[in-house]
Amino acid sequence: MASFNLFLLPGDGIGPEIMVQVKEVLSWFEKRGVAKFETESGLVGGCAYDAHGKAISESDMALAQAADAVLFGAVGGPKWADVPYDARPEAGLLRLRKDLGLFANLRPAICYPALASASSLKPELVEGLDILIVRELTGGVYFGEPKEIVTLENGEKRAVDTQVYSTHEIERIARVAFDLAGTRRNKVSSAEKHNVMKSGVLWKQVVTKVGKEEYPQVELEHVLADNCAMQLVRRPKQYDVIVCDNLFGDILSDVAAMLTGSLGMLPSASLGAPDAVTGKRKSLYEPVHGSAPDIAGKGLANPIAMIGSFAMALRYSFGLGDAADLLDKAISRVLDGGTRTADIAAPGENTVSTTEMGAAIVAALNEISA
Ligand code: IPM
Ligand code: MG
Repeated sequence: MASFNLFLLPGDGIGPEIMVQVKEVLSWFEKRGVAKFETESGLVGGCAYDAHGKAISESDMALAQAADAVLFGAVGGPKWADVPYDARPEAGLLRLRKDLGLFANLRPAICYPALASASSLKPELVEGLDILIVRELTGGVYFGEPKEIVTLENGEKRAVDTQVYSTHEIERIARVAFDLAGTRRNKVSSAEKHNVMKSGVLWKQVVTKVGKEEYPQVELEHVLADNCAMQLVRRPKQYDVIVCDNLFGDILSDVAAMLTGSLGMLPSASLGAPDAVTGKRKSLYEPVHGSAPDIAGKGLANPIAMIGSFAMALRYSFGLGDAADLLDKAISRVLDGGTRTADIAAPGENTVSTTEMGAAIVAALNEISA
């Protein structure tokens, strides 16, 4: 039986409680003989700061580097609002992305039929929605230098963030988007702001060239990022794959996520380049939602985005596409059956706890594979 080494970083807030549900799912697959998953856990975010004054320790970074895949919960909360900037909880996540070279962030937004009424848009606009946002994750304004606040001679302060992209960074994310579009509906929409930003001008040129020379069979359209945000709430089903930079991807993926009814539903995968020798990619899987400190520890959190992130790990890191399909099917089945955590329940509908939702998904796995 194939064996994989998973590094679990549950993090803060609801992170630990949703990770527990992934462990249940993981052991179901082990018992079924699908694969063996060796797991080890570490600390990231506020809990890591409390333990050793850093958002992630060097030893946990080394474990993340060595793992076949990292499963990440969520970080942050009001408790750490005033910690030094470099040690803030988010710094742990950003360091993982940067040091592991996870440049390709895949954020699918799928609207399960059973949840169309939970969306803030009219059901007919989102029913059957299936879009994939491919967000560049290791460049742009998140990491560009200089990044600083300086005090000017007149005593005023000046803050600088730098939006910077070079050709190879745009080429490689464009290729990921075109490749994935080829497995879907063959359409890429590239979002930038070439009307105001030099990085947008280069982005558009490079994506156009990659499309023309390497993927002539995939339809490519360019859309200004602000217009893309508007189109996402106007007529979201026009999109298949959207490719964009780090900051626009952050924003557009939150918009896309909410179309599906709840942030609690959305998984994501962050992938590095394939290793020259082994062909393996470094990878990290995380729900798109945050640590939701307001509901942490109350058993209210929806574990679906976290479990869906494990399904993406099965698909993209372990080559277990059938197992991933099975898990996605189990999630659909549970939703079709009307099981709801509070975030996706209609007013007056019964709700279940985090643990009950996890158990329902395991039960659905049993039923489907009986
Ligand atoms: C996300 C989050 C992060 C980001 C934060 C937590 C740093 O919003 O993954 O979308 O901005 O990338
Ligand atoms: Mg975000």
